[in-house]
Amino acid sequence: MYDREQFHHLMRTREGATRKEVGEMSYVATHFMKYLTDGEVDAIYTFLKHRLEEDGAAASAAAK
Ligand code: HEM
Repeated sequence: MYDREQFHHLMRTREGATRKEVGEMSYVATHFMKYLTDGEVDAIYTFLKHRLEEDGAAASAAAK
């Protein structure tokens, strides 16, 4: 799971959290994500993290 800092690092430098080169995503980070502001990158991270937490909560509720 990427933390906020690792996520910004990927979006800005193309380097992944555990591997420097993450294939197509390195290209995407370099060519597309550069148009996003830091605030927008941050907002995407917050959105995805909330989604993940909601999915996790729903999955454990369903398992009960
Ligand atoms: C807001 C949009 C996006 C976000 C937040 C995002 C985020 C990520 C993250 C965190 C990874 C994991 C990197 C790692 O292994 O450490 C990843 C991998 C990947 N992403 Fe994205 N991505 C986005 C859009 C895209 C788009 C538009 C494409 C293709 C056109 C793409 C293609 C890929 C591919 C192919 C991988 C796997 C790379 C590999 O392991 O070789 N992503 N992405």
